[in-house]
Amino acid sequence: MLDRFNRNINYLRISVTDRCNLRCRYCMPEEGINWIDHSEILSFEEIVEVVTVAVSMGVDKIRLTGGEPLVRKGIVDLVRMISDTPGVEDLAMTTNGQRLEEYAPELSKAGLRRVNVSLDTLDSEKYGKLTRGGDIRKVMAGMKAAHNEGLVPVKINCVLTESTSENDKQSLLSFCNENGYRLRYIRQMSLQDGTFYPVEGGAGGQCSICNRVRLTATGDIKPCLFSDHGYNVREFGAEQALLLAVGRKPEAGRKNKINQFYNIGG
Ligand code: 5AD
Ligand code: SF4
Repeated sequence: MLDRFNRNINYLRISVTDRCNLRCRYCMPEEGINWIDHSEILSFEEIVEVVTVAVSMGVDKIRLTGGEPLVRKGIVDLVRMISDTPGVEDLAMTTNGQRLEEYAPELSKAGLRRVNVSLDTLDSEKYGKLTRGGDIRKVMAGMKAAHNEGLVPVKINCVLTESTSENDKQSLLSFCNENGYRLRYIRQMSLQDGTFYPVEGGAGGQCSICNRVRLTATGDIKPCLFSDHGYNVREFGAEQALLLAVGRKPEAGRKNKINQFYNIGG
């Protein structure tokens, strides 16, 4: 699918839940959020319908995000359903890694190709504070399991904030080099203020080559992370919602006063 600026839209990012088992300081308030009611969250069948239609329109690359995708009940079944959809060439997931060790074998068997793991520091105490309760040993074990299961290349997303030290950056870099993981730095962004940056070591944030549309957990197809527009698949149907979103894809992002990272999936 080509948009108005001749960009080929072939990548759909799907937020499967707004829920998360962590509370990263730059993402969620300590007390959590008012979780969306289950009736508003798309069922697996509805998600697969969007995938099927998107594939027929030229999408071949899918990423599952959240919230935290591994807290959605039955996530392995969803991975299998999407991976079994003809035309899906690449299926990846972005996870915080807390439950990755237990899930990696099943995910791999179900057809997941790769994972990105969020990890901002190797200092276990700092990690615990930053995520408000995360256990870094679980992330370590999760990355290793993913690597062993062939969910490669395992990519590490490190969000740079004012509390990131030079030591955090350097030790993550050596750690990744030693273990065969790929490190990407993501500067902290604000959807509301419209501050966004290219991902260092990735394609995110480069508007001129952006190939993405997004599906939120409640069924809105979003043309851009930094856009207030969204077209709900329950209201418009998947095809029309996708066409409208691609048609409204901006040349460059502006602001998003409606979504948060935890419901649009970063
Ligand atoms: N700025 C940049 N990245 C963010 N993420 C969450 N909130 C922000 C923010 N404010 C990242 C997570 C994860 C990805 C899904 O989005 O760390 O790696
Ligand atoms: Fe959860 Fe990811 Fe947000 Fe952290 S950044 S609270 S892991 S959704």
